[in-house]
Parts: sequence; structure tokens; C-alpha cells
Amino acid sequence: MASTTTPTSLVILFTLILLCVTNQAREPFACDPKDGPTKTLPFCMVSMPIAERVRDLVGRMTLQEKVSLLANSAAPVPRLGIKGYEWWSEALHGVSNVGPGTKFGGDFPRATSFPQVITTVASFNASLWEAIGRVVSDEARAMYNGGVAGLTYWSPNVNILRDPRWGRGQETPGEDPLVAGKYAASYVRGLQGNDGDRLKIAACCKHFTAYDLDNWNGVDRFHFNAKVSKQDIEDTFDVPFRMCVKEGKVASVMCSYNQVNGIPTCADPNLLQKTVRGQWRLNGYIVSDCDSVGVFYDNQHYTSTPQEAAADAIKAGLDLDCGPFLRIHTEMAVKTGLLSEVDINGPLVNTLTVQMRLGMFDGEPSSHPFGNLGSKDVCTPVHQELALEAARQGVVLLKNLGPSLPLSYNRRLTIAVIGPNSNATITMIGNYAGVACGYTTPLQGIGRYAKTIYQPGCADVACIGDQLFSGAIDAARQADATVLIMGLDQSIEAEFRDRSGLLLPGQQQDLVSMVAAASRGPTILVLMSGGPIDISFAKNDPRIKAIVWAGYPGQAGGAAVADILFGTTNPGGKLPMTWYPQDYLTNLPMTAMDMRSSPLKGYPGRTYRFYKGPVVYPFGHGMGYSNFVHTIASAPTMVAVPLDGHHHGLNNTTFAGKAIKVTHAKCNKLTIGVEVDVRNIGSKDGSHTLLVYSTPPARHWAPHKQLVFFEKVLVKAGTEQRVGFNINVCRDLSVVDTFGIRRIPLGDHSLHIGDIMHSVSVQALPLGVIKN
Ligand SMILES: *[C@@H]1O[C@H](CO)[C@@H](O)[C@H](O)[C@H]1NC(C)=O
Ligand SMILES: *[C@@H]1O[C@H](CO)[C@@H](O)[C@H](O)[C@H]1NC(C)=O
Ligand SMILES: *[C@@H]1O[C@H](CO)[C@@H](O)[C@H](O)[C@H]1NC(C)=O
Ligand SMILES: *[C@@H]1O[C@H](CO)[C@@H](O)[C@H](O)[C@H]1NC(C)=O
Repeated sequence: MASTTTPTSLVILFTLILLCVTNQAREPFACDPKDGPTKTLPFCMVSMPIAERVRDLVGRMTLQEKVSLLANSAAPVPRLGIKGYEWWSEALHGVSNVGPGTKFGGDFPRATSFPQVITTVASFNASLWEAIGRVVSDEARAMYNGGVAGLTYWSPNVNILRDPRWGRGQETPGEDPLVAGKYAASYVRGLQGNDGDRLKIAACCKHFTAYDLDNWNGVDRFHFNAKVSKQDIEDTFDVPFRMCVKEGKVASVMCSYNQVNGIPTCADPNLLQKTVRGQWRLNGYIVSDCDSVGVFYDNQHYTSTPQEAAADAIKAGLDLDCGPFLRIHTEMAVKTGLLSEVDINGPLVNTLTVQMRLGMFDGEPSSHPFGNLGSKDVCTPVHQELALEAARQGVVLLKNLGPSLPLSYNRRLTIAVIGPNSNATITMIGNYAGVACGYTTPLQGIGRYAKTIYQPGCADVACIGDQLFSGAIDAARQADATVLIMGLDQSIEAEFRDRSGLLLPGQQQDLVSMVAAASRGPTILVLMSGGPIDISFAKNDPRIKAIVWAGYPGQAGGAAVADILFGTTNPGGKLPMTWYPQDYLTNLPMTAMDMRSSPLKGYPGRTYRFYKGPVVYPFGHGMGYSNFVHTIASAPTMVAVPLDGHHHGLNNTTFAGKAIKVTHAKCNKLTIGVEVDVRNIGSKDGSHTLLVYSTPPARHWAPHKQLVFFEKVLVKAGTEQRVGFNINVCRDLSVVDTFGIRRIPLGDHSLHIGDIMHSVSVQALPLGVIKN
């Protein structure tokens, strides 16, 4: 019997072979059912609580084995049936090929490449952010199942875009702490899934903290000591990380290269142990930026021996080193008494717990809830459509004289398409990208609506020389309309490449002005960039009828730009950062961290919250093909803040003009409920972002205004939508004093709701006054 092969088992065998060939299924990482001796160990028991399984596993390991797991390329532990693992993969806006954990090729040559984050954030649509995370994690799981990617992704980058020159500004959710925090929490939820403690993939919010300088004027991130006030930490730099951990429940935080107030962030127990793990209750692991432990030893000379550097990092709360430093030096740190073996258990518990939550110790990967995802689930039409939709939602219309946009479409019309980014492909996906499924360039997108004449005008975005100008000018003379597609790319702004100024590079400005002067039809300027550009010349030039910022719009960016130019999409994106004039930078070193302005020192302050000077375009600017008006349906004019028991003796008068500590207020459910009607008075359906800011009673440490709520709503032409929201008094109306303490200023707070101002009087209600 055993030796005869029945037709049925032949079919099964054949199917199995086929499965192995078409879907190179991944071997189990640990607890392999085929591995008799290890699969029965307690840490492999799926029915046991993860904490107990981790305790069992850590208890079985030798010091050497433990130390070999402290690096991103974690060694195998064959004795316990555990394979090696590469922790470093990236998925900033699609599965990326940055990081050794992911290798495109074979069954997985491509992945969906969404717009760069700064563009996606311009949609101000939190459900879009989460939807993108879900698609990216489907593709990441599929690639993991196929053996070409990891499950731990060091994305997103949620550092505040503090200075417009930062080369990595493109990766960030912009300059506003609330927007950055909401983006972080939404994208992380999309990536990690919504299955209790189980993780679809593990995300990572980076780079903690005050990291937003790469290489500027001789100062680089490996040597920079960011001097940051307690005030700015509390109400700016901490906010996105706190929201990422507390609301997004992220499984990892990465510390940065720089020092904060003289201490490398990866060696600072106040930042890691006390804040991230203690106050915010991170359930996950803390990883270093790549080789940042080595950097604080070798470049910053923060400790005198490498063993001390290893001990400092681990004692501060670091769990995993991107780089070999901890693997090389930790054992000696234990042998010389700088660390005890127990100190190494904490990091291992944190990393192994995440691996167990990912299902890596559950045996066959194919039995995982996402174990059936494979190459058929990557670059699907639905995924690619979402990349297009994200670009459409993120493109920002900055100027529209006439209005000249949308262009009417008619196959007989000819559009001159001019500029070095006209036929862009990889430029559209920015940095930390992968290999896109395919591209639609702007030239191709416009070609779907009209005849095109293409002239690059400049050889590349550096635009040295005017040799190609005459061809561009001739094209503009002949065409019915001219679209210039200009801006930046990674040769101008990138990781380790901060800009020195904000103007368009080389002779781009001359090309734009000369083409606009010669153009027979309307001239439209489309800009690709991550950071803001000072295009005052174009804003003020009446021959340039319209300006569109496309950011880096992803693989389908050219289609989205064309859909907006020709009006099949009604633009609704808004700028997530201030567009400053070039002279904002005069006497403003990138190293000056203060957010708040200092008129006495001639310091302008940073972001719309603290800078009051002239701008090219403000934070939140963005037009559409419809107009929206707001009406307040209901909003209180007074709110009383009940104080806790410590303030029995005090009365209302005592608090007049003061700011009470949030910790002294009874904050629970202390909210201001507001309802606003948003009416679309245009003739096209459109999505509108309601932005609500508050301005507290004047105090020298308060922002001019602070975003406290935003929501995007779809409003059909001629109709209205009611938006209701609650402003949390303690969280949203408080301001931070110079000691980093949150206080609620008493008096009149102004709410800016669209173009309406509404005043709310905030009063103290001492306990004695409360009547039951
Ligand atoms: C535009 O780019 C596409 C994709 O790289 C390429 O196939 C096409 O030839 C380019 N068109 C022109 C006119 O250069
Ligand atoms: C409020 O309290 C202050 C100081 O405790 C006291 O001097 C004042 O008389 C009180 N005012 C009223 C109206 O109770
Ligand atoms: C508190 O004092 C303000 C004036 O400072 C007054 O307008 C308000 O009615 C008082 N509120 C209560 C609850 O007594
Ligand atoms: C937000 O994005 C989602 C996903 O693309 C979309 O379905 C929804 O309509 C968008 N919301 C608005 C108000 O545009």
C-alpha cells in the first residue's frame, strides 16, 4: 500500500510541487512543526500568553545568544530552532527597497508606490492615511510570505518640519504637531492592523527626537547637539511621538543620531525609559538609528570606551541596535560589570514580544491570518487606484487667476508641456521608495486630454544654462496653453542634503518667466518638491495664471496632475507647511531650534504657530474649483473649568487673568461641543478641509494660533454638510509655560473656524462654587 502511488496522491504531490514553485513559501522562522525537539518547547505554545512564552525563551538563552540578538541582523539560535532575522525594512509610502530586510525581484519585482508623505498629508484626510497603511501592510505581508521582506518596518518618519531647508522634510507630515500626530496614529493603525495585541506588521515612529537637520553649513546630524527648551519639547517635538505611541499603539520607536541638550538621544534614560516607555507606555521595542550607538561613541566621543557606550544605551532603554555595535561590545560590558545579564533581558523581552505578536513563533507562516497573501496581492488594480486617489487628494492648487483652471479639454487643443519634471518617473516617488508598479508621467497624463508638444527647457532640475530655452519658448508660442512642470528632485533635497536656500534651482525661474511672456495661451506652473519653494515671482506675475504644487505625487502622479488641470478632479489639498520667502532665512541658522520668536534678538520664530512675518503661501492654503462657506450651528460662549480639591480656599476672583495648571483641573469630559455647517456654493462637488484653530488670550509663551481640529468632508454642489466636533479644554486650549507645564489661560479664547471667529470665555470654577 505504502509503495503504490494512487492517482489522488500524485495530484496532491504535483500540486504541492507547483505551490512550491509558484509561491516560494517562507520557511517557519521558529517553532517549525517539522523540527521535533524544539516545536514542543513552551515558547512555541500558541495557546500560552505571550509574556510567558517570552519568559520561557529568554530563560533558555546564554549570554552570548542574547547579545547576538541585539543587532538588526539578529543571529540564528539553531539550538532553539530559531533562524536569523533582519529587522530593518522600510515602508514610508509603499514597501521600500531601502534597508537590507527587503529585496525586490523574483515573484515580487514591484510594489505600489504611494505619494511621498508630505503630499499624502496635504489631503488632510485621516481615513486615506489609514487606508494607505492597510494596502502597504498587505503588500509587506505578501512579500514576507514570499521570503523577500521582513515584518518590522522603520516607518513612518514623524519629525516636525521645523526648518524649510531640511532635505527630509518630504518624508514628514509637515509642521503642525496635531496633523503630524494624527498622521502617525492613522498610518500606524493601517500598517499594524486592528487585531488586539496581534500585529500585521510592526511600524516604527522615528526619529526621537528634535531631529530635523541633516547636513547644513558644516554641521551634520552625527555631531549636532539640538538645544531644545522644555516648552518646545512639550508642545512641539513630543506631540507626534506621544500620539503615535498612545493613539497609534506603535510597536517601535527609533531614537535619533543627534544629541538633545548634550545627551545622545539613544543614551538618554529620560527620553527612552522615562518618557517613551514610562509615561507613554510603549508596548514594543526601541531601536537606534543606523549605527547611532557607534556614532555617539566614535563621532561624539560621548563615552571613553565602547563598553560604556553599550552600557549607556541599554541602561537608557535601547532594545535593538541598527548596526553591529551592541553585538560587538555588550558582552564585555557585562564581563566588566558595567551591565548585568539581567539588564540584557529587558531588551530581549521587548524585541521577542514583538516577534511573537507578529506570529513569528507560531510555526507555519501559511497558517497566519495573513499567511495567504502572495504576489497576486501586490500592485493590484485596487492598490494602484488608491495611489492615484491619494495623489489627486494631495495636490494643492495655490493660485488660479481668472479662473484659468480647469482647462477645457478637447482633442483639438495643443498643450505645450515644458520643464525638467515634465516626464518625471522616479522623481515622483521621492526617497524611501521601492520599485513602483509603473508610472504615469505628467506628460502622459496630459496626453490623455489633449495633444502635447514636449520641451524639457532645462536638461535637469539643476537647470544650468539656457541652451534649451528657445525650443521651449517656440512651443509656448504655438500652443493653446502652456504647462510648465518644474521644481526639485533628490539631487536638490534628500537625506544628508539640506537646501541652502528656497528659490528654484539654477535658471528655472528665468525659463518660467520667459515662457510665460511668450506663451500664446494661459501659462500654468506645476511644482514638484518636498520642501516649500519661494516662487513669489510666479505668484506676482499676472501672466502665470495658475500654480499647482504636486509634492512628489507617487507612481500615478502625472495622471492626478492632469485630472486636476482638466477638472475631472476638484482639488482639495492644503499646504501642510508654511511657504516662506527666501529672506526668512537671513540670519536664521538651521541649528537654532527655538520655535518661538524673539523680537529682541531678531529671531523670527518657526511655523505658522510662532512666525508672524510675510509668507509666500501660508500653512493650510489650498484652493479648489468650488467655494465653501461656514456657518456656526451651535457653539458655547462660556466654559467653566472645575478645579480639583487642592483649591478649596480659592475663589473665582483669585484666578482672574491667570493660567491654571492642567493638573489642577478636572479634565474628564471637559469639552466644548461645536457644530458647523459647510456649504458648497460652487457648481462642482468637492472635498473641503475644515480647519479649526484656537488663539489663546495673549501670553508671551502662547502660539499665535494652534490647529485644534481638522476634518475633510465631501460636499456636493449647492448642498451643505454639518460637522460636529468636541474641543477638549485641557488638551486643546492649554498652552505650555517655560517649565514645560501645560496651563489653561483663563479669559477669551478665539476659535477660527474657516473664516469665522468665535470667542469662548474660559473661567475657573473653584470646587466650593460647584452646586450639586
Ligand atoms: C517619457 O517617459 C516615458 C517613461 O519613462 C518614456 O517611455 C517616454 O519615451 C518619454 N517620452 C518622451 C517624449 O521623452
Ligand atoms: C477671594 O479670595 C481672596 C483670597 O483668598 C479673598 O481675599 C477675597 O475676599 C475672596 N473674594 C470673594 C468674593 O470671596
Ligand atoms: C468668574 O469671574 C468672571 C470675571 O472674572 C465672571 O465673569 C464669571 O461670571 C465668574 N464665574 C463664576 C462661575 O462665578
Ligand atoms: C478620504 O479618503 C478616502 C479614501 O480614499 C475616500 O474614500 C474619502 O472620500 C475621502 N474623504 C473625503 C472627504 O474626500
